Amino acid sequence: MTLKDTIALLQAAPADPIIGISDRFQKDPRTEKVNLTVGNYLGPDGKIPLQATVHEAQRRLLERRTVHSYLPIEGLKSFCDAVDVLSFGRDSEVLLSGRSATCQAIGGTGGLYLGGVFAKETLGVSHAAVPNPTWGNHIALFKKAGLEVSQYAYYDKAAGDVNIEGLLEDLRRLPERSLVLLQVCCHNPTGMDLSRQQWQRVLEVVKQKDHLAFLDMAYQGFAAGLEEDAWPVRLFAEAGVDFLLSVSLSKGFSIYGERTGTFTVVVQSAEEARVVHTLLRRHIRALYSNPPRWGAMIAEVVLNDEELNKAWKQEVEDMRLRVKAMREGLAQEGKKQGVSLDFALKQNGIFSFTGFTAQEMERLRTEFGVYGIDSGRIAMAGLTEPVLAHVAGAFAAVLKAR
Ligand code: LMR
Repeated sequence: MTLKDTIALLQAAPADPIIGISDRFQKDPRTEKVNLTVGNYLGPDGKIPLQATVHEAQRRLLERRTVHSYLPIEGLKSFCDAVDVLSFGRDSEVLLSGRSATCQAIGGTGGLYLGGVFAKETLGVSHAAVPNPTWGNHIALFKKAGLEVSQYAYYDKAAGDVNIEGLLEDLRRLPERSLVLLQVCCHNPTGMDLSRQQWQRVLEVVKQKDHLAFLDMAYQGFAAGLEEDAWPVRLFAEAGVDFLLSVSLSKGFSIYGERTGTFTVVVQSAEEARVVHTLLRRHIRALYSNPPRWGAMIAEVVLNDEELNKAWKQEVEDMRLRVKAMREGLAQEGKKQGVSLDFALKQNGIFSFTGFTAQEMERLRTEFGVYGIDSGRIAMAGLTEPVLAHVAGAFAAVLKAR
């Protein structure tokens, strides 16, 4: 077959289950429509905010007449160091002893992909396990990195809770030295996080089976607070195991389009970290040469300036509290409409699992203009005060039709 014939036979790819529905939302002409698809934080006005600290950092960067030269292959060091402090804590032994190798990454997705490639090509890991359910892209990007991917039990739909015994059992059954993807907080899509005691049990199995834990922290600060949410990272750091960490700065700084994040490998010594850093640079050079600079510079200015850093922490806390208030508001509106929407109170952070089927989610979109994704996930951070009654009313109509 010729190349022309092959191209003529190509079939269009299906729309992305998250971004595709968000695109449908954009085209919906109704004014009362509500976008609860993508895991973006929206302010009380229903828009992605331009945070005051980010605005100020950009003003300073423009004033400095920053030029657009290449960054080093591994990215901006002062940015990586500042993010490490956020993840591990200022007095972390990992940072003090230098036994971590951190590079800038192209958002959380870029860090996860880089980690997949590093695990497969450098460490010879062949199998990755992700939660069931999980963010759909986890599966796609680990497959693209050449790993076989399976899912471990995570959520018990009937109980509306984490299935911890099933999870541990599945981790025990995996081949030794599997990459195990663990979401640090604001589990996407269920909104159900592990308790501290459950994290400790997971760590024990990871150690027993010599698994490579890959901690994915995309929503630090949106569950219980910046320090509290990083607790699992610090647990793994103190346990002395080697592990991977991907951090996304998209949500905390509302700089989604700047693709800003870090990827870290924690190892046993500063010498090992130095070697790993050279190997990561090799991968990055072949994948995309070097990372973009604007988002990293913004975050670097904010994190490394005492006053801006303090103001930014308050911004994150305000965002967290707004989402929490929306959870409470939705549950209250549900009561007024004669249905229980208390799932919103039990779950945590940006996402909630409503329990609606794909058909029910479609009815919510077509009839009420309420856009969530087919799995029944809604982005709580997309709710605002003026739309609470409309959304609760739509949910009530669907629940009463069961
Ligand atoms: C989400 O799950 O909505 C976010 O992580 C955004 C994305 O790229 O899917």
